[in-house]
Amino acid sequence: MYTCIFPAVGVVSIQREAYLTQATGQECQTLQIGEPWTSVSPIACYAECMIRYPDSCQSVVYNSHTQNCRPGSVAFGPIQRITTSIPETGSTDGVFYARQPIPPCNKTDNFTIYDVCGTSACMHLSTSKANSYSTAKNICSLMNSKLYVGNTRAKFSTFWYTAKKYMNADILIGLNDITTEGNFVWENGESLSYEQSQYIWIISEPSGTGDEDCADARQLDWPGVFGLNDAKCSEPKHYICERW
Ligand SMILES: *[C@@H]1O[C@H](CO)[C@@H](O)[C@H](O)[C@H]1NC(C)=O
Ligand SMILES: *[C@@H]1O[C@H](CO)[C@@H](O)[C@H](O)[C@H]1NC(C)=O
Repeated sequence: MYTCIFPAVGVVSIQREAYLTQATGQECQTLQIGEPWTSVSPIACYAECMIRYPDSCQSVVYNSHTQNCRPGSVAFGPIQRITTSIPETGSTDGVFYARQPIPPCNKTDNFTIYDVCGTSACMHLSTSKANSYSTAKNICSLMNSKLYVGNTRAKFSTFWYTAKKYMNADILIGLNDITTEGNFVWENGESLSYEQSQYIWIISEPSGTGDEDCADARQLDWPGVFGLNDAKCSEPKHYICERW
């Protein structure tokens, strides 16, 4: 863990403290955002990355033997259908990520910050099943929150690995196509983008069969599969609420 501060050059609004941490878990991978170069250390590699890509540099893959430095966007879990991810290619490659700004978190009702690879969210993990998607949605609403919105790769990854680590169940996320079949919408009102739809689903999902309008992370997929399934909204399930 390096505790250095790298203010991004020039633009005050994106200055951030970057606690550069070497990732060990497979969930911390990254997308390559530019050509590699040579740097003398992980810190130098990351500092250069911040200068070249002040908006998007959030992680680096650094090889301490070759000094090869690859710039990356935020660390996220290995996601199917993403071909530009940079896995650790050898024992001397290390993935280093920078902590993203931690959102405010009102801890009333058992909300707390969960962090995956430096991306965190204020979450409430259910301790029992809600009898449907709309019930789960109401429970979150009563706690002044929404069913989890995983609208970036990193936030989706934070949801996935938190659910996998702490919950032993199928988990609802705040994404459904109840209003218009095939038109999935996040609980914050944003439509699922084409880009998101390329990585968020398990291969061959959403099957869209009949009344499968509510997305969930399935326990049975956790060992090897990363992605959501569409299922009936009326199935009792656990859920994760998110507070901003
Ligand atoms: C909060 O956590 C406590 C202790 O685990 C539990 O008894 C309580 O039911 C939880 N409250 C909610 C709203 O989940
Ligand atoms: C925290 O959330 C609870 C429940 O929504 C609310 O009653 C309380 O006023 C909030 N506290 C702060 C400091 O915002």
